[in-house]
Amino acid sequence: MSFVVKVMDNNQKSIIGYVVGGGLKENLRVRLTIPTQQVQEGAFVVIESGSWQFYGLVTDLQLGSTDPRFADEQSETRLPVEMARLLHGQTLYTTLEVLPALMLERGPDISSPEYPEWRASHPEDSHPLPVKTIPPHHAEVRLAEEGDIAEIFGKSEVEGNFVIGYTREQGHPVCINLDKFVQRSAGVFGATGTGKSFLTRLMLAGLIHHNTASVLVFDMHNEYGFDDTASDTHMAVTGLKTKFGTRVRVVALGAGSLIRGLAPDFTLEIDERDIQPGDIEMLMRELNLKETTPTTLDALISEFGRDQWFRAFREMKVGDVITNEDGKKVPAPGSVAAWANAAGVNVMAAEGLRSKMQRVFNLEYICENPAGNGIEEIIKTLEAGQHVVLSFYEHESDLDYLLVSNLLTRRIREAWEKRTNDFRSKGAREPHPLVIVVEEAHKLLNREMAGQTAFSTIAREMRKYYVTLLIIDQRPSQIYDEVMSQLGTRISGWLGDEDDIHSVLSGLAGRDALRGMLARLQPKEEVLLLGWGVPMPLPVQSRRYDNIFWEELLGKSQGKMNRESAIKDLGFD
Ligand SMILES: Nc1ncnc2c1ncn2[C@@H]1O[C@H](COP(=O)(O)OP(=O)(O)OP(=O)(O)O)[C@@H](O)[C@H]1O
Ligand SMILES: [Mg+2]
Repeated sequence: MSFVVKVMDNNQKSIIGYVVGGGLKENLRVRLTIPTQQVQEGAFVVIESGSWQFYGLVTDLQLGSTDPRFADEQSETRLPVEMARLLHGQTLYTTLEVLPALMLERGPDISSPEYPEWRASHPEDSHPLPVKTIPPHHAEVRLAEEGDIAEIFGKSEVEGNFVIGYTREQGHPVCINLDKFVQRSAGVFGATGTGKSFLTRLMLAGLIHHNTASVLVFDMHNEYGFDDTASDTHMAVTGLKTKFGTRVRVVALGAGSLIRGLAPDFTLEIDERDIQPGDIEMLMRELNLKETTPTTLDALISEFGRDQWFRAFREMKVGDVITNEDGKKVPAPGSVAAWANAAGVNVMAAEGLRSKMQRVFNLEYICENPAGNGIEEIIKTLEAGQHVVLSFYEHESDLDYLLVSNLLTRRIREAWEKRTNDFRSKGAREPHPLVIVVEEAHKLLNREMAGQTAFSTIAREMRKYYVTLLIIDQRPSQIYDEVMSQLGTRISGWLGDEDDIHSVLSGLAGRDALRGMLARLQPKEEVLLLGWGVPMPLPVQSRRYDNIFWEELLGKSQGKMNRESAIKDLGFD
């Protein structure tokens, strides 16, 4: 009886083949017993063997034959149909290459006499482990079912699990655990138009809705706050502010800015006293500064102090001369040269720096007496568990992006470090996790900048202080390797460039097998989930970001707030 049940089980569990060879290092080889086209690269398969269950990913399909003659000859035209079919079944076959990723100890069958003893010696439910061994010859292989995927990636009904997409063959939901996602910096990669911004909107909606972390988005292209229009389909794209109301505050850079005609919650102007030498040194490449810059800046600081140096330098004139009593032309008082001479700094270096910094002095959002303290306001909002989308409005140049995002991030880093230390040493409230979202991340995290920006410090060590990055980029190869290797979850759409593929996969097991998979993703809305934040690599079809998504996330009665979200909305959590 139990044999019959077992057979039925297996039939229902769509067996696709059996193990014929391979190994831990070189991947497993599986003889396919169903038509080739029914299995695709990237399929998630389960191999059952005694009390163990193995999980793997199909990374290749190959045609084989017992004798090359059978492969070369078109037997179906020469032989009767039935014979040709038999011959094919016997001599021609397809082999799958399966990357083994995880294994799980299931123990003996629950109805077997050995089960109670096994369970007594394994009191805790077993968890999937990275593979350390392999299934034996002829172990049966089947396509993963919804339950297998939930076993590995988590059940969608469990709080904190967020459906990011669906398996490609059968459309089973695949979750990312949001709490794990925010524990380390993460990255979303892919060539232009692969769906990075859409996927980021999904993730952010999940993080905000589940209150996993506060989110700060450096929104260079004004995409995330208010509703937008998709550039390809011209369809409306819902902004985060539209759905989350006062929990998301849209901040525009510069006084009086409107974003597509809509007023932001507040504007950000930067007090010139907040600009520190490090903020300028970080612009080395952008402003084409010389190596003498730090010396000149040091002299400015020691003479005018950290608060006044920027203003004092701005007010100095380049090239002003006067004629002295001896009829000689000398630098006029208040000129850069006069200050440099008095301070013992190289005049050419100081004048050069002053000219190059003119672009910074011209920025209208850096001012003497800004109305309100925008930076403080942003930090307070984030500390209260709310979210900020900083729209760069029309200040979209690299200079704006580098300067503002770095300055703000530096301040946030200080605030979170302090809060974490207060929490650890003085028993203050535990800081709320914060995720900083940066589009075009390579501009801030390239090899040259990595030592100078606040971002690389965050990528490397801020997880201890509850701050992580979500970096979005088309060109991951331009991001400093050390930062790339720190990324926990990596979500990548199609990439064509070898260097980009290489850097997305850096430090991961099974790189060779995954490389081809990345290059063969659909050009849009398909991504490969990778890294520490996911239990094993898996290609998925991205969840669609549309009205159905919002209904699933917020429920149909989006207008009505429940008690819990009303409390969150008011900033209490
Ligand atoms: N999850 C999704 N749901 C709905 N539409 C999507 C999704 N992903 C991608 N798209 C479609 O693909 C288009 C491109 O996506 P998106 O703007 O996110 O690309 P991108 O990778 O951010 O490109 P770029 O690097 O140029 O900013 C969108 O305009 C949309 O039509
Ligand atoms: Mg984009």
